[in-house]
Amino acid sequence: MSEIRTTTSVTETIAYARAFAGRLRRGDVVTLFGDLGSGKTQFVKGVCQAFKTCTTATSPSFVILNRYNGTDERESELLVYHFDLYRVKSLTEIYDLGYEEFLQGDGICLIEWAEMLGELLPKRRYDIRFSLGADENERRIEISGVGK
Ligand SMILES: Nc1ncnc2c1ncn2[C@@H]1O[C@H](COP(=O)(O)OP(=O)(O)OP(=O)(O)O)[C@@H](O)[C@H]1O
Ligand SMILES: [Mg+2]
Repeated sequence: MSEIRTTTSVTETIAYARAFAGRLRRGDVVTLFGDLGSGKTQFVKGVCQAFKTCTTATSPSFVILNRYNGTDERESELLVYHFDLYRVKSLTEIYDLGYEEFLQGDGICLIEWAEMLGELLPKRRYDIRFSLGADENERRIEISGVGK
């Protein structure tokens, strides 16, 4: 399964992310790939909005992991974990964060620069690939379910 959408504004990317979040279930992992400034964090913002988190994704950030408190469709508490692995140099740093625990937890994990993970990448996940379009505000977003 793979779907491609071209958005022409930040607002549209956020709206698309909000709609996508409707498919997410507790424990799901989403990896976000694409160049600097291609829209990964804006997309995470949309997912945060869908889960009604009080704080939202920021970028750029020097923090590897942010946690946002949100709620699911039944108003039960749900944690959104937002990893940005851009500055991570070794897998040890990721283990030290307690990465596996978050991954196996019942929140939603969103991981920017997930190529850092190598074999730590979960087998079941959504991959989202971002690329720049012809216009300044155009972004191509491709979502695929892996092992789903
Ligand atoms: N259609 C669009 N969708 C998303 N962002 C857009 C769009 N058009 C322009 N932008 C701009 O592109 C930038 C996207 O920034 P964002 O922080 O989401 O990128 P990123 O992929 O997370 O980069 P990084 O790898 O540095 O974390 C923002 O400045 C935003 O205003
Ligand atoms: Mg980012």
